[in-house]
Amino acid sequence: MTNPIYLEKEEIERLINNPLNEEELLICRREHLLTNAREHVIVGTPEPGSSYFTTQEGKNILDCTAQAWTLNLGHSNPDISYAVSLQAQKTIHTNSMFLTPVRVKLANKLSEILPGELKNGKISVNNSGGSWALECAIRVAMVNNKKGKQFIVFRRAYHGSSLVMAGASQRLPHRFPSLGNEIWVRTFFPYCYRCPWNYKEGLGGIRDKSCNMECLDMVRDTIELYPNGTPIGCIIEPIQGPGGQIPAPIEFLEGLKEICKNNKILLIYDEAQTGFGRTGKMFATEWYNSTYNTDVSPDIMTLTKGAAAGVPIGITVAKPNIRQLTEFEEHSTFCSPQLAMAACLVNIEILHKHKILENVVKQGNKITSFIKELAEKIPEIGDVRGPGLFIGVEFVKDRQTREPYNDLLAKMIHTGWKNGVYFGEGMQITSTAGYFIQNVLKIKPPLTLKDEESDKVCELFEKSLKEALASFK
Ligand SMILES: Cc1ncc(COP(=O)(O)O)c(C=O)c1O
Repeated sequence: MTNPIYLEKEEIERLINNPLNEEELLICRREHLLTNAREHVIVGTPEPGSSYFTTQEGKNILDCTAQAWTLNLGHSNPDISYAVSLQAQKTIHTNSMFLTPVRVKLANKLSEILPGELKNGKISVNNSGGSWALECAIRVAMVNNKKGKQFIVFRRAYHGSSLVMAGASQRLPHRFPSLGNEIWVRTFFPYCYRCPWNYKEGLGGIRDKSCNMECLDMVRDTIELYPNGTPIGCIIEPIQGPGGQIPAPIEFLEGLKEICKNNKILLIYDEAQTGFGRTGKMFATEWYNSTYNTDVSPDIMTLTKGAAAGVPIGITVAKPNIRQLTEFEEHSTFCSPQLAMAACLVNIEILHKHKILENVVKQGNKITSFIKELAEKIPEIGDVRGPGLFIGVEFVKDRQTREPYNDLLAKMIHTGWKNGVYFGEGMQITSTAGYFIQNVLKIKPPLTLKDEESDKVCELFEKSLKEALASFK
């Protein structure tokens, strides 16, 4: 580690490490432009790489969110910290017009590990995450398909909160409109548990046996009978994350790929959450391939979240035959993020070398099996969906009507925290009329979750759920 030259080490340590006092907190809460800060302050982790975080009061909480599903190797993973500090001693930042060793190595590595038809594809990296990666994908699609004007997107999708991507997402409770709304055409996502065509089974993301794939017909009609010309592209999360942990059935993705191919529409997968190991495979595309032995890889894919194990990064990748963007078409000051690229490179190496993906399958199966068993005794558990450590538990008031049980989710997050575990929650589904659903609990801890930690997740899930249910009696 190099020594500081302007300040003493102790001065720097004081600036970063000194505990907060009440006054500092008060001022910050009063003057912060955002109002979303929670009551608790996270100050660190009991041990580098742990699945727990530590609060200001000294409480260790088992993190089933990996902090917005990003800290795939745990809190303050030491290998990532080391990679970032090492890189910081070489280049913290360079203008994006220059290549650097870490940039070249990462681009080549990513290109090599991409799934299906994306293999040996083209890469663009940014420092800000999923929204920018998707806007880049849109620019790539527009450059490669000059005929259309619009993009197909799906209900319950979330593709970010930039002013453009917010329009592609499920309605969010904003006090301002998103921009460019005329480019989106929305159709049904195959949410089998709540099928608009009333097929009844649809558990675990598997479609009802008698389903005739009307949702796919709807996509076909939307595209082929479309008054505004064939769309440029189609953006989909193969397994929806924010919308409720909903896997698209394989037949839907196969059909979608074929429709896009036949109509020369670019298929874009948003793998913000599913990429980099969360399903037990490096990408959801690979999970489908290994589970169903069929290649549903898209033309373009976007990645972020766990890509650099928590260091901010967004990635857009495209098939090898895709026309590239110029410097003016894909550019931002920080779009060659050296520290994040170093972290991403090391993350990939660890995922491959240390059987982390196997661990995801093992711990994920343990937790989902446990909750499925519990569901035999607790009817408020309506559906349990995976795969891997991409787990969603849907709460219902009644198994028959499947009426969402929002209050139970809210209570469960609360009892969980009290018991020492932080569970995640799905995005709010709202309407202008005030229609509101938020009933999916998420369990998406670090991929390095240990045996004893997954036991703890199961134990605390049962305890917290029972307490939450008892509070309604
Ligand atoms: C599926 C999906 N797409 C896109 C995004 C947007 O990413 P970001 O918040 O980095 O812009 C998110 C973020 O939650 C996401 O979950």
